[in-house]
Amino acid sequence: MANLKVKFCEVEFENPLVLASGVLGVTAASLKNVVKNGAGGVTTKSIWMEEHKGHANPTMFGTEHYFLNAVGLSDAGIEKAEQLFGEYGVPGERPAPLIASIVAGQASEFAGLAERIVTLQPDVIEVNISCPNVEDEMGLPFACDPMQAAHVTEVVRKKMDEVGSKIPVVVKLSPNVPNISRIAAACADAGADGFCAINTIGPGMAIDLTTRVPILKNKVGGLSGPAIKPIAVKMVHDIWKTTGLPVIGTGGVMTGEDAIEMMMAGATLVGVGTMVYYRDVGGFGEIAAEMNEWCEKEGVKDLSEIIGTVK
Ligand SMILES: Cc1cc2nc3c(=O)[nH]c(=O)nc-3n(C[C@H](O)[C@H](O)[C@H](O)COP(=O)(O)O)c2cc1C
Repeated sequence: MANLKVKFCEVEFENPLVLASGVLGVTAASLKNVVKNGAGGVTTKSIWMEEHKGHANPTMFGTEHYFLNAVGLSDAGIEKAEQLFGEYGVPGERPAPLIASIVAGQASEFAGLAERIVTLQPDVIEVNISCPNVEDEMGLPFACDPMQAAHVTEVVRKKMDEVGSKIPVVVKLSPNVPNISRIAAACADAGADGFCAINTIGPGMAIDLTTRVPILKNKVGGLSGPAIKPIAVKMVHDIWKTTGLPVIGTGGVMTGEDAIEMMMAGATLVGVGTMVYYRDVGGFGEIAAEMNEWCEKEGVKDLSEIIGTVK
């Protein structure tokens, strides 16, 4: 057996596979079930300060090649999240590390949210900056502008320092930019401890040929799943090479070999989301077994040996 354990920002994970934000991450019971099925860690759905309504159904559509979703970052707010944290367990008694994803429409709101979330003691905080800045005239996501991305990072960093928190802060980046290295470098300078990449691509649209109506009620949705993996691998590599900071490589991972590829690109942890719609939640354990199989075949004793080894 190869050693699949990895350390991410000093937090230990039994294996590098972590549930990506927004998929099965709404209740403590479903997070525990993901761990029981073989995930090394879990991420909550993105948490807003207040309740946030999502889009109308249908919100998801998939083929064997890709998946579209327009869930719309629906969430019950921080109070409901407090309940989830309570049920998932306090640090030391958790089945696996818990990553708290937070989201806001204004940079200043991230400060209050970070302060509240620290009291719940997540193992890692993931700042989702892929939501449009409602104060910006253009309504562009923070993640699409280096200055805005850095500003949100700085706001959270400052709050963490103020409250004396050592919980690592990871910034989740959007692939919908011409040069992700610039965004990552700006966030690193502003105090990010690591990154998660990528969020969904697009948006994209699929049409029902009989009714000639877009399949998603929202008409368009974010693209994930198998089709986005090469873009995710490239962007993870860009971020890792530019900043040298640890990355949760996410996007299109369906198999053990996909996860190995993501780690070779520079990922320390591997985010897995859409996979559950293709292989079900049991896929986590199967992917871990496939990673082990690959390591044994290649004579790799410790998975952490392969991080960033692409030539
Ligand atoms: C149904 C669905 C809901 C999602 N919700 C969130 C979310 O709340 N916050 C977030 O940061 N990313 C969200 N994502 C993006 C995923 O976390 C991930 O970055 C993306 O889907 C690419 O990885 P994958 O191909 O493994 O799914 C969502 C993805 C899907 C498919």
